[in-house]
Amino acid sequence: MGLTWEFIGGETPLDHDEIEGLRIPFVTTRAELDEHEQANIQRARIWLNTRKPKVKDILTDTFIKRLHTEMYNEVWKWAGQFRRTEKNIGVDPVRIATDLRQLLDDARYWVEHASYPPDELAIRVKHRIVCIHCFVNGNGRHSRLLADVLVYALGQPIFTWGAYSEMPDVRERYFEALRKADRGNMKPLIAFARS
Ligand SMILES: Nc1ncnc2c1ncn2[C@@H]1O[C@H](COP(=O)(O)OP(=O)(O)OP(=O)(O)O)[C@@H](O)[C@H]1O
Ligand SMILES: [Mg+2]
Repeated sequence: MGLTWEFIGGETPLDHDEIEGLRIPFVTTRAELDEHEQANIQRARIWLNTRKPKVKDILTDTFIKRLHTEMYNEVWKWAGQFRRTEKNIGVDPVRIATDLRQLLDDARYWVEHASYPPDELAIRVKHRIVCIHCFVNGNGRHSRLLADVLVYALGQPIFTWGAYSEMPDVRERYFEALRKADRGNMKPLIAFARS
């Protein structure tokens, strides 16, 4: 018995070819899949700890893809490759490369001109990139780890993403903050990331 696609994708279902990209044959539950992804992401964190990339290296499409590869390549064959299918979140797949280049150009400009404090800059990048939705899956986790790497390179501690908050419903607060960011208000997402 294998996994079905609705089941694997969760909020953003994967299509048949995308499911075919699963490298791990003996997985039968969503929880097992989550564990494998989590272990892979842990190794990506170790990789980051040895590299400590600089801002100018982070804000490149090579690094954006490399980070996704490091996070998911042991689980998914399409790790680090731009999505070719439409999803309920994200731009038309043909626009991914150019929209990402535009975001990275903007971000380099913000850094150079100190347009925003480091937390806000990293969270703006996080929100814009998750709205582009470069990859088939794992975009949320990728965008959060990218924000961590970037804010660290800008001289600040990495974010906590609700882990130290006393308030329940972390997930609900995260999505509420994202919806406010969609409307241009970054403050709740910054506050959430530092909670
Ligand atoms: N309204 C929204 N505005 C901005 N981003 C959104 C919105 N809704 C969802 N997202 C982002 O899309 C992510 C889901 O995309 P995807 O399934 O590719 O990522 P994931 O890493 O698998 O998920 P997760 O973040 O839940 O671990 C959400 O976590 C969130 O970061
Ligand atoms: Mg997902």
